[in-house]
Amino acid sequence: SDPLRLGIAGLGTVGVGIVRIVQKHGDLLAARAGRPIVITAVSARSQKDRGVDLSGYAWEDDPVALAARDDVDVVIEVMGGHEGPAKHTTEAALAAGKDVVSANKALLAIHGQALAEAAEATGRVIRFEAAVAGGIPVVKSLIEGLAGNEITRVLGVMNGSCNYILTRMEDAGLTYAEVFEEANQLGYLEADPELDVGGIDAGHKLALLAAIAFGTQVDFSGVALEGIGAVTIEDIRQAADMGYRIKLLGVAQMTGRGLEQRMSPCLVPATSPLAQLQGGTNMVVLEGDAVGQIVLRGAGAGEGPTASAIMADVMDLARGTRYATFGQPAHTLRRARAATAAIP
Ligand code: NDP
Ligand code: HSE
Repeated sequence: SDPLRLGIAGLGTVGVGIVRIVQKHGDLLAARAGRPIVITAVSARSQKDRGVDLSGYAWEDDPVALAARDDVDVVIEVMGGHEGPAKHTTEAALAAGKDVVSANKALLAIHGQALAEAAEATGRVIRFEAAVAGGIPVVKSLIEGLAGNEITRVLGVMNGSCNYILTRMEDAGLTYAEVFEEANQLGYLEADPELDVGGIDAGHKLALLAAIAFGTQVDFSGVALEGIGAVTIEDIRQAADMGYRIKLLGVAQMTGRGLEQRMSPCLVPATSPLAQLQGGTNMVVLEGDAVGQIVLRGAGAGEGPTASAIMADVMDLARGTRYATFGQPAHTLRRARAATAAIP
């Protein structure tokens, strides 16, 4: 059969991880998909050594040019940023009739509806499993596994950096400022750390899950956001004395007043599975009327886990699984009536 030909825009942590999986598991992927999965072209800002062999792939300085190449069927956008090259590359790929696989939660949380409509206009799809909770297959669980349910609630810990900071403050008795500095030194935080500690990154992920779960247009502006910057060691101690831990918890549910989306530091009972989460781990809880509660837990970031999620989407496309970007056609997604009061 014809190979599925990938163009990778971005060769950082995630892009290199994808190259490694395709090179290591070529036979396995081909056997499972029934056709070879090959990389034909790659793009990044510089042609430095990245510890992987890129010699067999065409090089493009400009990711938009990569998106338009005739020898690329699927464009994988792993550059990041909600404007600029990431947006232009995604739009160019869809306009050129290519499917897109993306890890870019910021782009999708802000422009998801317009991009889903653009994809449908050319009969294409955008897949974004890697954008939410890294290696955990939460998007697929909602769209495929729970397709027969009315989803009643989605909640969870969706930012590993914040979870690292909060657990380290508790375990080592260090202040927020000390652990923030440590996490930054270890490279755990986004280039703009406010995306993590301000709850914005986790809010992007929650907004994406809510759109799928409730059939609404993605509404990041409707997420009531509070980050972890104001959490003190005293708060953590007092919570522990009462039998609680503090987690940056996201909750989305449909209420009589509209869609409620909150991402904020919450008290969770110390004995609950959510409270046990250590380090950069994520946990997502999905609740459906037929299935009850599903709990998914795993690595929310990192080269292997995030590339694993990208490959799940690539395999979908190779096998011809083509549900709409948010699980139902973009024009059927209702505009969300935001029911969440802003967090003061
Ligand atoms: P990195 O910063 O490690 O890599 C970004 C890559 O994009 C680099 O290779 C960079 O090139 C390239 N790039 C940036 N701008 C351009 C441009 N104008 N033209 C061509 N290439 C460009 O990011 P990550 O791999 O960590 O993340 C990629 C995406 O995945 C982001 O959207 C991120 O939010 C998302 N994500 C990341 C996770 C993780 O664990 N890292 C987890 C889940 C999602 P160069 O190397 O030459 O500078
Ligand atoms: N900064 C994010 C986190 C990366 O810490 O969870 C994964 O999306």
